Amino acid sequence: MPADLVIRNARIIDGTGTPAFDGDVGVTGGRITSVGAAVSGKREIDANGQVLSPGFVDTHSHDDAAFIRYPGMEFKLAQGVTSEVSGNCGFSAAPNIPGKQVLPGDISGSNASWEDLDGYFAQCMEARPAINNAMLVGHNRVRAIVMGLEKRLATADELARMRAFVRQAMEQGAVGFSTGLIYEPGRYSDTDEVVALASECAPFGGIYATHMRNEADKLLDAVEESLHIARNAGIGLHISHHKSANKRNWGRVKDSLARVDRANAEGADVTLDVYPYTAGSGPMNQYFNLNAIDPDLASVIRIATCPDFREFEGRMLVDIAAERGWPLEDAVRAVITGPRGKETICIQFVIDEADVETNLRHPKMMVGSDGIPALNGSPHPRLFGTMPRVLSHYVRERGVLSLEEAIRRMTSLSCDRFGLTNRGRIREGDWADLVLFDPATIRDTATYDNPKQEPEGISLVVVNGQVACENGKHTGVGAGRMLRYRSAE
Ligand code: ZN
Ligand code: CU
Repeated sequence: MPADLVIRNARIIDGTGTPAFDGDVGVTGGRITSVGAAVSGKREIDANGQVLSPGFVDTHSHDDAAFIRYPGMEFKLAQGVTSEVSGNCGFSAAPNIPGKQVLPGDISGSNASWEDLDGYFAQCMEARPAINNAMLVGHNRVRAIVMGLEKRLATADELARMRAFVRQAMEQGAVGFSTGLIYEPGRYSDTDEVVALASECAPFGGIYATHMRNEADKLLDAVEESLHIARNAGIGLHISHHKSANKRNWGRVKDSLARVDRANAEGADVTLDVYPYTAGSGPMNQYFNLNAIDPDLASVIRIATCPDFREFEGRMLVDIAAERGWPLEDAVRAVITGPRGKETICIQFVIDEADVETNLRHPKMMVGSDGIPALNGSPHPRLFGTMPRVLSHYVRERGVLSLEEAIRRMTSLSCDRFGLTNRGRIREGDWADLVLFDPATIRDTATYDNPKQEPEGISLVVVNGQVACENGKHTGVGAGRMLRYRSAE
C-alpha cells in the first residue's frame, strides 16, 4: 500500500534535539507511518535537502476568537505553526455568558454564543480551522463572569462559583489555568484566590500559566508569588513571555532564571516562554493609571489598534502628540478614554535585546508569539513573524542556540508541557504535523512598519496529514483539530 504522502530527501530534525539526519517521511491517515525508510506515496514531494521538522507550537496565543473569525489562520500557518495554546494572560473565550459583554476589551473576544469549552470547540470545528488549538481557562474571564470588575477580594460563595467554572473547563479538556495579574479584574485578586482556582487543575494534571503580577521593578517578587501558587496548588508552573521590562531593570532576567533553576533543582516543575522581540503589546488602558501617567512608558508607545483614531495606527505616540500640539499625557488620555478606548492596543518598546538572547539560551524556554490578531490595525510583527524570526535571527545570524535545540523548544518540549499527546516529534504513529523549510533562507518579513507580511523560506506545512500551505499558498483544507489535554485523539 502506498502512503498518502511521502516527503523525500529531507534533512530530518525530529524535534527531540538529536542531530539532523537524512531520510524520507511517509504519512497515511493523518499519521506519520514511516521515518527514514523509502516507501512509495500517492503523492511524493522532493524536499531537496530542506529541513523537515515537526510543526511549530505557539505556546502563547490570543487567537481564541480568531479560530472562528479567521479560520484559515494564515498569519500563523504561514510561519509553520500547526498547533497553538490560546486562552492566555487570563483571557479565554470560555466560559461565557451568551449574549453578554462579559469583559469589555477582552482580547479573547466576547459576545459569543457558546457557554463552555465544549461549545467553543464545537464552533471552532464548524469553521474548519487550518491549525490545531488547545486552550487554557482564564482567570480574568472567570472572575468577570462571577464578580464583574469589582475591585475587592472574592467572597467564599464567589470563590466557589469561580472554582466550578475552572473545574468544568478542566473536565472538558482545558490544558490548565491562566492568569494576567496586571490586568483587570485579575489584579484585584490575592494570592490565595489564585491558589484556590489553580488547584482545580491538580486532579487533571493541568498547569498554571501566568502573566505575572509584575514584569518590571518587582519581577522577582512576582516570580516568588508564581512559585508559591504552583507549589500550593500542586501543579506545574509556566511563566508567560518572560521579560524584565523598563530600561532600569534590563539584565535582570538572569536573576529571575536563576530563581527558576533553583526551584527546579529543589523539585519544582517550571517552564517558560518568550517572544523574539524587544517590544510587548496589549490593551493600552490596562498599562496606564490616568491619575499618574508614566511619561517614560508613554514615550515608548506605538499605537497598533485604535478604533477611535484609525489615523494613529502604526505611529509612535510622541509623534502623534507633537503633530497635534498635545502634551504627551493628553495623547495617552485621548486614545484610552474615547468611546472605544478600551479597544486600543499598543506596542511598548520596553525590553532589552540582550535579555531576549538570555531567555532563548535557557533550556526550559519555549517560543510563544503573544500575537494579538487585530488584523484591521497595525499589529505587533510577532503575530506574523515569531517562529521564522527565532530560526533566522537567533539561530542562523546570532548563533544563540542550535537549530536542533530551537526546534526541540518549538515542538516536543511545548507539546509535552501542554499535554498535546502524540505531537511535536517526527516519530512513527504520531500525528503528521510537519513543516519543510530552508534553514539558509527562512526569515520573517513582518516589521513594525509593515507588520502583516508572511515569512519566506517555508515551502510546506502539513496539519494532521493534510497539506495546508505550500510555497506560500494556503490550500484551505481546514484540517485543524481542537486538542484536549493529554487526549490521544
Ligand atoms: Zn500577557
Ligand atoms: Cu499574552
